[in-house]
Amino acid sequence: MAQSVGIKDVARAAGVSVGTVSNVINRPEAVADETRSRVQSAIDRLGYVRSESARQLRAGSSRIMGLLVLDMGNPFFVDVARGAERAARAAGIGVMVCNSAQNPKEEAEYLSLFAEQRVRGVLLTPTDVSGANITAFRRHGIPFVLVDRVAERVDGCSVSVDDVAGGGLAARHLLDGGHTSIAYVSGPPELNQVRDRRTGVLNALAEAGLAPDTLRELPTERLDVAAGRDAGARLLGLADRPTAVFCANDLLALGVLQALYAAGVRVPDDMAIVGYDDIEFAAAAAVPLTSVRQPAVTLGAMAAELLLAETAERPAVPHEHRQVVLQPELVVRRSTLGSR
Ligand code: RIB
Repeated sequence: MAQSVGIKDVARAAGVSVGTVSNVINRPEAVADETRSRVQSAIDRLGYVRSESARQLRAGSSRIMGLLVLDMGNPFFVDVARGAERAARAAGIGVMVCNSAQNPKEEAEYLSLFAEQRVRGVLLTPTDVSGANITAFRRHGIPFVLVDRVAERVDGCSVSVDDVAGGGLAARHLLDGGHTSIAYVSGPPELNQVRDRRTGVLNALAEAGLAPDTLRELPTERLDVAAGRDAGARLLGLADRPTAVFCANDLLALGVLQALYAAGVRVPDDMAIVGYDDIEFAAAAAVPLTSVRQPAVTLGAMAAELLLAETAERPAVPHEHRQVVLQPELVVRRSTLGSR
């Protein structure tokens, strides 16, 4: 566990008085910008935790665990939270759910909040792809489990789904339905999930003897219904329009479905659609959506169980970090049935 850092350590590191550090924390407006920045850098670098009582709490002993999701508006994360909360509750632990809203700055602020509160540990779907936020968080000596993401460096557990396999399931289903002109409505390309799904599609195209550039790519800034509607409009404007579209998640697919319906384009007759996650609304859509199902509730439950194992008071066996990878499955519905 990281040696706990005191306010005097921060003052010494920043070359200021303890009073100045206290002002930076409690009255930042009273401190000159340069001094405030220097003190804040020292706080982040040393992993200083404000509250004395929180500092005393041994990491891993709190009865609250943090869950930081990428997008609270996405039912996928609601299911992840449901699984985590049930598993934590069975061990008498509560879950504090926060939302990074795909914003690295907000992710950093919530990780600082969890550190201040000395939560038992944190379940996190990272939005900061640089890894800087997690690196800063590690200094607090609080365990974390990556959710929906494989931990590149093995200093934490992770639970994810094989998104390369998932992208391949979607593409092979469309290829088997006779489609060779396929579009991919992706999210932000820097997100691992989006990149892996695309890799799965390209692998399936290659197996079918199709070149990567036959895939018509429509990137989006966000992974929500509005971004799907926008992508649907761009899809409709493509010369030599594809006959099928795979979307990086169900919210995008529902937005594309809305745009196609508004334009009088029939699904699946004129355009087949495949989504990803298999959220509850996929089956309830006006044209029930074929989707690559992620076991979201299981994902959340397993992440919570890994964290509980890592922070157990008297573990039955010494903890070893694990990278658990679950498999997706294809759920076929009317949005691709009868594809040519
Ligand atoms: O957060 C964006 C997407 O990544 C979700 O829809 C889910 O698919 C996750 O893996």
